[in-house]
Amino acid sequence: MAARVAGDERADRLRNYLRIDELPDLQHPLTKGAHDEMLFIVVHQVYELWFKLILHELHAAAAALDEGCPHGALAPMRHAVAVEQLLMEQLRVLEGMSPDGFMRFRDPLAPASGFQSTQFREIEALSGAGDRRHLGDAGRDEVHRAQLGERLSQRSLYTALGGAMRAAGHDFPDGDDDVARDRRLAAVASLYGDHDDPERTTLHQLCEAFIDHDETITRWRHHHALMAAGEIGSRKGTGGSLGVAYLQTTLDRRFIPELWEVRNRL
Ligand code: HEM
Repeated sequence: MAARVAGDERADRLRNYLRIDELPDLQHPLTKGAHDEMLFIVVHQVYELWFKLILHELHAAAAALDEGCPHGALAPMRHAVAVEQLLMEQLRVLEGMSPDGFMRFRDPLAPASGFQSTQFREIEALSGAGDRRHLGDAGRDEVHRAQLGERLSQRSLYTALGGAMRAAGHDFPDGDDDVARDRRLAAVASLYGDHDDPERTTLHQLCEAFIDHDETITRWRHHHALMAAGEIGSRKGTGGSLGVAYLQTTLDRRFIPELWEVRNRL
């Protein structure tokens, strides 16, 4: 009897551990008979789960750098990029939705939109492209505004990399002035030319992993903007922006512009 109770408790604990029974209860379409609304909700929710994992990996990478262990940052960065590649594929599923199918349920869902994703803004902030203006985006409640505010006040991955560069003896000063920038670029460029020292090679690989992360999210931005154009044309966004015209202004955003600029010095 006691063994059965213990077994039941363990089964309960495991059910609560994965919480998979709760996930199918979280979809609440607003428009009766709008077949594609389920697809729209599920894709957004799945994205948020993956965003959570990406943040988990980026935090681990930054922590490894803070602890002076650049090598420990490589695997989390690679995991993050692998997930981001999946996110590109998931847009294809949404592209299967016809624009008229989307229009059947779109209006009632405003002001819900991608602007609500606090985790996406956290990924931007941790990656180096935080923007305080997004604190006031439509649909963000107090709790999530505070969460984003906290994230925006913390160091970015590039700042953490700077600490690791200095610890490895590189001339990598802080500062927004041209001289500091120039010295940082020279330090990063030097990593690419010499692979005798394993620590330099690790830092080089890490810079390339940061570029992969930046590039994959940028490709996602392009793909998402094109997908949005295919669905809503030049209508305004449900989050209150100009829609695709706004999304186009985000396409040149880069997390770590200096890692792109260093290409000119190699
Ligand atoms: C039919 C599908 C979709 C359309 C038409 C669409 C359209 C838009 C538009 C017009 C915006 C600008 C904000 C606004 O005013 O609403 C936006 C932003 C955004 N959307 Fe989507 N979206 C779609 C699906 C998705 C999905 C599945 C995700 C996954 C999370 C997503 C994530 C985002 C994010 C993160 C932003 C903010 C981008 C930025 O400010 O850089 N969207 N979307």
